[in-house]
Amino acid sequence: MANQNDRNVADVSNVTVFGGTGFVGRRIVSRLVDKGIDVRSVSRHPRKNKWDNASDQRPSQQIEADILVPSSIVAAVAGSRAVVNAVSLYVERGKETFERVHVEAAAALATASRDVGVERFVQISGIGSNPNSRSNYIRARGRGEDVVKAAFPGAVIVRPAVMTGPDDAFITTIARLVRLLPIYPLFGEGDTRLQPVYVEDVAEAVSRLALGQNPTGASIFECAGPRIYSYRELVQKVAIQFKVRTRLVPVPFAVWSMLATVAEFLPTGSLARNQVDLMRHDNVAAIDLPGLKELGIQPRSVEEVVRMLAKAA
Ligand SMILES: NC(=O)c1ccc[n+]([C@@H]2O[C@H](COP(=O)([O-])OP(=O)(O)OC[C@H]3O[C@@H](n4cnc5c(N)ncnc54)[C@H](OP(=O)(O)O)[C@@H]3O)[C@@H](O)[C@H]2O)c1
Repeated sequence: MANQNDRNVADVSNVTVFGGTGFVGRRIVSRLVDKGIDVRSVSRHPRKNKWDNASDQRPSQQIEADILVPSSIVAAVAGSRAVVNAVSLYVERGKETFERVHVEAAAALATASRDVGVERFVQISGIGSNPNSRSNYIRARGRGEDVVKAAFPGAVIVRPAVMTGPDDAFITTIARLVRLLPIYPLFGEGDTRLQPVYVEDVAEAVSRLALGQNPTGASIFECAGPRIYSYRELVQKVAIQFKVRTRLVPVPFAVWSMLATVAEFLPTGSLARNQVDLMRHDNVAAIDLPGLKELGIQPRSVEEVVRMLAKAA
């Protein structure tokens, strides 16, 4: 629920970022603050973020609210000119289901934003989102896009590829595993094609769209990095950069699905079924949709990001 102290500050906030303490949300907040915007960051645990990364800028307001609680949504968006939904749910637990968070709550947030007069709404989704997918996760992301567009005409959907950067769950995990294991288990044959994107580039894209800097006027953007790699190639790149030798071993997707089902019961959150579902399909930007280039952003390469992470390790 919104804090009592925050109730009267609605009129000073310009952009509200739901999920503003998250991996990409934090960077979106930072980019907007850098541009001189008053930013309200909303999450369930606003003080969990220590804002300890030197490049992170603090939001003007940090509000505690749950996207699943309609009354707290209204209080959180009131007075904003733009709202960004950067809330995630990667593993279903109890009442937190993909349908509730990525579809129902996204629709509720878009509706509340429209009702209080918000001018722009940006929904973060993901490349590959598909309302007809057999995967619960991918289907919910696709349906989420549809309900947001219906609730908030003019909403912009941003679909990032897998995002990389300090504290990511992708390159950092590969780097940890190649250093730990003599044999590296690939998803399937490791042939899935990926186009990783630097998280700061996505944050910049979202911040521009939230401020209405959309030269194309398009309503869907797919944000991906400059090159496509197979998963196998990416693991090899990371291993070389971290100066370790590793043997890559194919592991069937059926085995990964079983492992993920078990892993979801563990508190570590090391593997989730949605990750396995996503890795079954190529995850690259559509050539007929606009992306970073159309927003005037030159994407950083994976090689640069891996070098950056290796230096910091
Ligand atoms: N990471 C990637 O590589 C990637 C790639 C493509 C697309 N995406 C998409 O990008 C979006 C953001 O992902 P992320 O990786 O940045 O997520 P994240 O690091 O897990 O951050 C999620 C944010 O949402 C907040 N949140 C979660 N549940 C909430 C709730 N019920 N009410 C209010 N706030 C809530 C979290 O804070 P609290 O827990 O404190 O509430 C946190 O601020 C998601 O839609 C994700 O699917 C991510």
